[in-house]
Amino acid sequence: MNAAVPVIELTGINKRFSTEEVDTWALRGADLRIDKGEFVAVSGPSGCGKSTLMAVLGLLTGFEEGSYCLAGRDVGTLDGDARATVRNQHIGFVFQSFNLIGDLNVLENVALPLKFRGGMGKAERQERAEAALERVGLTQRLKHRPHQLSGGQQQRVAIARALVGEPDLILADEPTGNLDTRNAETVMGLFAELHSAGATICMVTHDAGLAARAQRIVHMLDGCILPAEAVPAGTVRVQ
Ligand SMILES: Nc1ncnc2c1ncn2[C@@H]1O[C@H](COP(=O)(O)OP(=O)(O)OP(=O)(O)O)[C@@H](O)[C@H]1O
Ligand SMILES: [Mg+2]
Repeated sequence: MNAAVPVIELTGINKRFSTEEVDTWALRGADLRIDKGEFVAVSGPSGCGKSTLMAVLGLLTGFEEGSYCLAGRDVGTLDGDARATVRNQHIGFVFQSFNLIGDLNVLENVALPLKFRGGMGKAERQERAEAALERVGLTQRLKHRPHQLSGGQQQRVAIARALVGEPDLILADEPTGNLDTRNAETVMGLFAELHSAGATICMVTHDAGLAARAQRIVHMLDGCILPAEAVPAGTVRVQ
């Protein structure tokens, strides 16, 4: 068997949000390693720092202390532009509220990350976007606008957009949070398929049943990532 290759190595991350009223340490000494090809679920109570963790992992926000290596590169000290470039090349996002662009059709939404990345002609961008949409079973809806799709279809477009650039890492924050059970099932099935095909996925979910479908569950509490042996009693665990 090949040795595990880390995609994410977070060490001792402290992240503070300051407002006029209060300072909140949303992450406190967070350590996390995710290897290539893993499917990890992040679980924990509301306000424990899950979305903040995803924002740090996705280079959407910085942090006060600690270090972050993404695919072997120290990305914690990069400036805004360099962070945007790394984000665009290495990370695909799926959000609870889909976050598609209403003025663009399905094909244009999916092709957009390739346009931002640059270096690829329009024909190739379209071809890749169509291939990504084929993987999520949406080839009949290329010219539709997001508002003409169901919630489940919109999330499948968002997944196609996340995977079109063949990122090292797919980050999903409550990707089934706005979906009914049947559509949530479709989305989970797609993640399972992507995982089988080699994708590295980190997914936040409140739902213990959905978390149990990942390969590994990371539990959070009060800004801390709990060590595997310190999981609260009664929590579903899957190895
Ligand atoms: N932009 C911000 N400004 C100030 N405080 C923030 C900000 N974003 C998050 N926080 C605080 O940081 C803490 C962690 O928030 P976070 O959104 O990461 O929690 P969460 O685990 O994703 O919760 P939920 O399950 O409800 O989505 C909370 O106390 C929250 O109030
Ligand atoms: Mg959240």
